[in-house]
Parts: sequence; structure tokens; C-alpha cells
Amino acid sequence: MDMRILIVGSGGREHAIASALGRSDRITLFAVMSRKNPGIAEYTKEIRIGDETGIPQILSFADDNAITHAIIGPEAPLQAGVVDALCEKGIRCIGPTRAAARIETDKAFCRDLMKRYAIPGCPDYRVFHDAASAEAFLRTQKSDYAIKPIGLTGGKGVRIMGEHVDLDTSIEYIRLLQDGVVIEERLIGEEFTLQAFCDGKTLIPMPLVQDHKRAFEGDTGPNTGGMGSYSLQTHTLPFVTQTDYKQALHIMQKIIDALAEEETPFRGILYGQFMNTSRGPMVIECNARFGDPEAMNVLTLLDSDPFDLVTAITGGTLDSCEVRFKELATVCKYLVPQGYPDNPQSGKPISIGHYYPASLYYANVGYKDREIVTASSRTLAFVGTGKTLAEAEIQAENAARSVDGEVWYRHDIGTDTVLQKRIAHLQEIR
Ligand code: AMP
Ligand code: GLY
Repeated sequence: MDMRILIVGSGGREHAIASALGRSDRITLFAVMSRKNPGIAEYTKEIRIGDETGIPQILSFADDNAITHAIIGPEAPLQAGVVDALCEKGIRCIGPTRAAARIETDKAFCRDLMKRYAIPGCPDYRVFHDAASAEAFLRTQKSDYAIKPIGLTGGKGVRIMGEHVDLDTSIEYIRLLQDGVVIEERLIGEEFTLQAFCDGKTLIPMPLVQDHKRAFEGDTGPNTGGMGSYSLQTHTLPFVTQTDYKQALHIMQKIIDALAEEETPFRGILYGQFMNTSRGPMVIECNARFGDPEAMNVLTLLDSDPFDLVTAITGGTLDSCEVRFKELATVCKYLVPQGYPDNPQSGKPISIGHYYPASLYYANVGYKDREIVTASSRTLAFVGTGKTLAEAEIQAENAARSVDGEVWYRHDIGTDTVLQKRIAHLQEIR
């Protein structure tokens, strides 16, 4: 039977999901999105513009369109229980239930689970539910810490002492947090992302990716949702050894095993954000979905039949599914409005020139007189591919240069200079 798949979400990540699933002629796509993404709209038979966490509307849209499967892009619908509601209607979901999504939506839950099951890679941490005790703790400490709100913050909630904040500003920040805080040791190293398909028990890893969270070149400036990312033709990264990689995958498998043991099996995309340190890979955070931008790197390379993959994830047969990715490097560059992230200028027209052969993924755009304009978040991304990182980078850069309008992007993402810096840093700390 053919699949009628509902995509929930409206960003670059969901455009990449639509484009990957759209490669199968046995799949018909539908979408619920908070604003119209022209890229997703191109792949879908019907769309509904509306609240991505609005369960009654999502269920009625699913009903109207005889939806058989769903994939949830962002974390907010997972937290709202969209998957629980769809599953109750017999719709098979790629995306965890609200309980299993706590691995992302509740940072204290994630750390406590890792501790309870003695899963390696968990930094020293403490959970505080009131600001006064967090403050008392910090005042007795000499080292730097990472300050993390327990709940979701759209990737912008973490403050690192010694980097973004000092002791006094940390304390001021903690006083503003309503739902408590996790305070954990500040990890030093190089970050990488390992995403995996998961059917509740088996994990199938995707190529490693490195994301760039900081706004400005040289990884400076405020944190963003991610300015771009790259991956190599080997599907590994030169600052992650085979031992590190195996350990990261082992940690993710342990997390999946623990969630299954807790009777909240995880079905969907598990995203592990790691800091590769002198002690090996440590978990910075787990997400219960594809990363954005990282989804664009890996899904551009996906070389397996998406119909078979969706069947295996939702049917619990990933262990017998062969998943292939093209052996190419990728570079993803996000174009963002002037003033992003602090003061993004929305409503500015953009015109896209000749970007072929890169892939274009729309993110947050608006329309004015039928023209595409910037909105308040990241605008669109290009992914270049190539036999080498350099080829992929040039492709992405040429595509980005074709755009006219008040947008900007980081030129350094995917360059050899960035890569060499990473390698040297890890050599230095090891
Ligand atoms: P998150 O929102 O958890 O992805 O964190 C945002 C960024 O904060 C990460 O990409 C890291 O660069 C940094 N970060 C988070 N936790 C730590 C930690 N324990 N030590 C050092 N840096 C961290
Ligand atoms: N790129 C980081 C995230 O999606 O959370």
C-alpha cells in the first residue's frame, strides 16, 4: 500500500525531509506548517497553515487526507504530544511520544536517565529548582559551568561561564528562569553531531556533521539556531577517531536501551550532540528529532528508498534495513536576514539567482506582492555537495552568492581553515 505521509513543521529541515521522501513515487506528502514554506509546498498534495502543536487541527487534517504515517520535524509538537495523539488514531509516526521526547524537552530528565543507567559521557551536573540554591552552589565554586534552562529554549538558552557570562551575570540569568536549571561542568573540546534513525531498539547512524551555532565568522558572537554545517565524504570527521565514534554510538544505543527499559521506547530520529574532549566524547545534549541545519547535510546524501526506510522505522525492522548515504562531502550555508539573530530585519525582498547544482532549502520566508521576503528567522539554505569538502564549499558559496537582498551568511563554514583549526585544537587538548 502506498504511504500518505504528513510532515509537521515549516523550516529548512522539513523542506529537506520533504525533498528526501519525495524521491519515492509510493509516497504522497502532506504538511501542517505554521507558515507557508514554498519548498515544502512544492512536494505536497495538500497543506494546512496552522499551529504545529494544535492537536485537534492536526488530527482533522490527517483524517481529511487519510494520512497513514507522520514525521515530526521540530521539538515543540513532540512536547505537545502530537505523536501520542496521531498514534492513537493508528497513524505510524517517525518521532517519539511526549514521554520519550523528554530526552530533549527536559534536560534534567536526560542527565538523570544517563546517571541512573550509568551511561558514559555524562558530565558532572546538578539540577536546581530554585534560583537561591543554584546561586549558593555557584558562589562556592571556582571553575566555570554551563548553565542550562531545564525546558526548551529553541537552542538559545545555554550560557557558558567564561565564554558568554561571568558569575554575576550567570546568577542574574538563573533568577529569570521559571522551570529550574541544570548546572554542569564546562566541557572543552570539539563538537560534532551524530544523528540516527531509530525504531525503538535498533539505531542506524547517519554521517557525522559539524554545526556552527555562533553567528559570526571564527565562531564568535551570539548563539543562533545554527548558521550552517558540513560533513565529509568519509562520513566521519578528522577530529573524531574510530574509538570516539564507536563510543558516541554506544552512548546513543545505551540511551535508547534505557528508554525502552523505562517503557517509553524511542521511535524517530535521535540526535546526539557531543563534545569530543580529552576524555573522549561527552554528551552536550540529546534531541528527539533531526537537527536544523544538520538534516540538510544528511538527507541530501540519503541514497536508500525512503519508502523502505519509513516502513522499517515505524515497523520496528530497522535491523534488517540497509541504509545508504552517498559518499560525498556536504556544506550547508544558511542565509539570514540583516541584524539576525538579535534584530532581524523582516519584510526585505530577496531574489535567488542561478544556484544549480547546489540544493536550495527554504526556511523562514514571508511574501509581499507575491515576492519572497525575509522573515524574523533564518531565511534559506544552500547545500553544496562534492567529492571533497572544498568542492562542496565552492558549490554552496557560489549558490549563496547568487542571492540578492538584505541577507548575509558565514563565508568560513566548510573551509579548510575551519577544519584545520578543529584538528589542531583536539591535538592540543589530547
Ligand atoms: P545546546 O542548546 O544544549 O545545544 O547548547 C548550545 C551550545 O552550548 C552547545 O552547542 C555548546 O557549544 C555549548 N554547551 C552546552 N553544554 C555545554 C557544556 N557542558 N560545556 C561546554 N559547552 C556547552
Ligand atoms: N542544529 C542544532 C539543533 O537543531 O538543535
